Amino acid sequence: FNSMPFKRMCPRHGSFVCYLKFAVIALSTIVLISTIDFINTTFRQRSISSVIARSWHARTPYLVDTSACKIPNIDPFDPSIAHFIKPQRKPVTCNKRPSFTFENGTMLQINWTAVSQSKWNGQFGYCKIQPIYRPPNNHDNNYFTYLEISDEFNDTIEMKHEFVRVLCYNSNHGKIHTNFHQFILPKPDVDERCSLAFVKHKDSPNVRETLNVVMIGVDSISRLNSQRYLKRMRNYLLKELGAFEMTGYNKVADNTFVNIVPMTMGKFLEEVPWNESMSKIPFDDYDFIWKQFASKGYRTLYAEDAPEIAIFDYLKSGFHRPPADYFNRHFSLAMTTDKSVWYDNHNCVTDRLETNIILSYIYNYIDMYKYSPYFAFSFITGLTHDFLSSAGYADVPYLEFLKKLRENEQLNNTVLILYSDHGMRFGKMRESYIGKMEERLPFLFFVFPQWFLAKYPDYTENLQTNTRRLTTPFDIYETLSDILHFNEFIPVRRGFKNRGISLFREIPEDRGCEEAGILPHWCTCAEFQTLSPTNEIVQKVANNMIKEINIQLNEVSKRCAFLRLGKIKNAIKLLPSEKVLRFEESKNDVINRFVKYGDRSKAQVNYQLTFSTVPGNALFEATMQFDERDDSYKMISDISRINEYGHQGDCIDVHKLRKFCYCKS
Ligand SMILES: *[C@@H]1O[C@H](CO)[C@@H](O)[C@H](O)[C@H]1NC(C)=O
Ligand SMILES: *[C@@H]1O[C@H](CO)[C@@H](O)[C@H](O)[C@H]1NC(C)=O
Ligand SMILES: *[C@@H]1O[C@H](CO)[C@@H](O)[C@H](O)[C@H]1NC(C)=O
Ligand SMILES: *[C@@H]1O[C@H](CO)[C@@H](O)[C@H](O)[C@H]1NC(C)=O
Ligand SMILES: *[C@@H]1O[C@H](CO)[C@@H](O)[C@H](O)[C@H]1NC(C)=O
Ligand SMILES: [Zn+2]
Repeated sequence: FNSMPFKRMCPRHGSFVCYLKFAVIALSTIVLISTIDFINTTFRQRSISSVIARSWHARTPYLVDTSACKIPNIDPFDPSIAHFIKPQRKPVTCNKRPSFTFENGTMLQINWTAVSQSKWNGQFGYCKIQPIYRPPNNHDNNYFTYLEISDEFNDTIEMKHEFVRVLCYNSNHGKIHTNFHQFILPKPDVDERCSLAFVKHKDSPNVRETLNVVMIGVDSISRLNSQRYLKRMRNYLLKELGAFEMTGYNKVADNTFVNIVPMTMGKFLEEVPWNESMSKIPFDDYDFIWKQFASKGYRTLYAEDAPEIAIFDYLKSGFHRPPADYFNRHFSLAMTTDKSVWYDNHNCVTDRLETNIILSYIYNYIDMYKYSPYFAFSFITGLTHDFLSSAGYADVPYLEFLKKLRENEQLNNTVLILYSDHGMRFGKMRESYIGKMEERLPFLFFVFPQWFLAKYPDYTENLQTNTRRLTTPFDIYETLSDILHFNEFIPVRRGFKNRGISLFREIPEDRGCEEAGILPHWCTCAEFQTLSPTNEIVQKVANNMIKEINIQLNEVSKRCAFLRLGKIKNAIKLLPSEKVLRFEESKNDVINRFVKYGDRSKAQVNYQLTFSTVPGNALFEATMQFDERDDSYKMISDISRINEYGHQGDCIDVHKLRKFCYCKS
């Protein structure tokens, strides 16, 4: 038997009585443990020493802790997955091929500094542009063409096209440089459509506020992985921008496409309705949320990178008519197709990160329309899609984007939604319990203007409450609807089949996965069973909890009695659903969709106990985690005293120990 507890509980000054007391406790523990069917020495030692070794950094055991849903608060660096977590990657610097041209407002300029630092210094000739064109009624979502090449220029050129390729030549007319540029140019027809519709919308009696919306999506990043690799971005969002982080944000389907549809149309894909037999039909006629904004007088933008795997294009027909006033697909296709500008794992285009090209397109749009209503939807894939650790590449680019927005006061009248679609869906990590949980829990942040939060304190309070409730992409859709038709008096905005609820309204305490539209194999709420107080594991957990208390009491053992187990009043075991633990993969989006199940992954199971102790008849509540992988136990909550302790602990003034102390005299 591990003698550690004796030394810890009765150290140098330990009296004989103390040793005796603990000999009794230890003996009864030994008897108890030896009756358990899986007697195993290593197990016993590990379980006890791990309890003792744990430092007193109690965390809240659940992110969502409501009557219908408990989502465990998993440590992003949990030892069970440590071997999957690679160190932060070096940022992608894109510094190997300086760009000879740059965007400046609606102008394209030659960077003479870059030219003169290059080997073409003195031999540089001129550049020409080729507009990238897509017909307004395209019959192929992958089609684009280059229009006629422009005249030569060698300084600045005013842009008449949103998207261009630039070719630069030396003085012997040899091509020496290729680049791609995009511009946000005014569109008089859009302005006209918008101003008329918006005046009408704004003056309609129920509309109280007209906020702009910017949605920035980042592919494949769980909330846990954002805690590992996007620390600076998170910190800026939470500390500087006062973002609301929806910690119980649970995906409702497998991949990007099937989660973005609920987010932007408020329905499951099959309810839209859509299925694979329609893969040759474009998405032009569906009722996306941005169309509703457009019809109320908002300008719209839709931007993606990685055009081969774009949300509505991969194995599908995308859009034949542009879904938004500003739409970059043909630019993205042209750029991707031109192999000469890429390097660094297809992340850099000359001296710019592909991600930054999209972010700067969005930034320029926000900047152009800061005094007119706008909506922007974007989804950025390339940088973060491949590995768990590639999320780290995104930290600085997104941080800098957010800083630039904030420093230039671009968010005064804008709701910013920064989201992911799901966690990593490939790789070894996903076979583990934590991998499975985080695949289902992508990150989600909302940033509102401060004046708005101050003006609508009830909504602010609900948003705050909802950061710890079970939420879904359907709720994002309802929130967007609420923003568009912003009115204080509508009681609750609930969506199709009552599944989605606007996050301005309190998500009910009793919402579980079923109410929220989350199928069992995607549901991260723990299932729970009530256990008998006589259950052997319950007894063992209770004794481990009491050991924890006694370790604490050691410090004041002269005055306070060590405690023994009185009665176990209540014991609950919380564990992930069998379907989540056995999940292997989901095949097909609609037709013949099926879930492939395999062996059950070993999980972390929580035991939540209420028990009394003697002497003093104190009542405590605590949660201990049992890890099936290595049969270890660990406290994951504070030990809360839940009955009054009156004067029982008056003999000490160590505040944090009063709840445990029963004074000897
Ligand atoms: C961008 O254009 C503005 C005005 O046209 C000019 O003043 C400014 O110097 C340009 N920026 C750079 C970096 O050349
Ligand atoms: C021009 O090129 C230099 C050298 O590559 C670079 O440091 C600078 O940022 C560039 N300027 C602009 C406006 O892109
Ligand atoms: C730029 O072009 C103009 C006329 O096209 C020419 O006169 C001038 O020398 C050129 N400047 C440089 C630096 O090549
Ligand atoms: C697929 O969609 C088509 C067209 O809406 C419909 O007729 C068909 O029944 C659907 N098939 C399945 C299996 O849902
Ligand atoms: C944003 O709000 C601040 C503080 O209310 C104000 O000083 C600033 O002019 C606003 N900026 C814009 C671009 O509207
Ligand atoms: Zn995705």
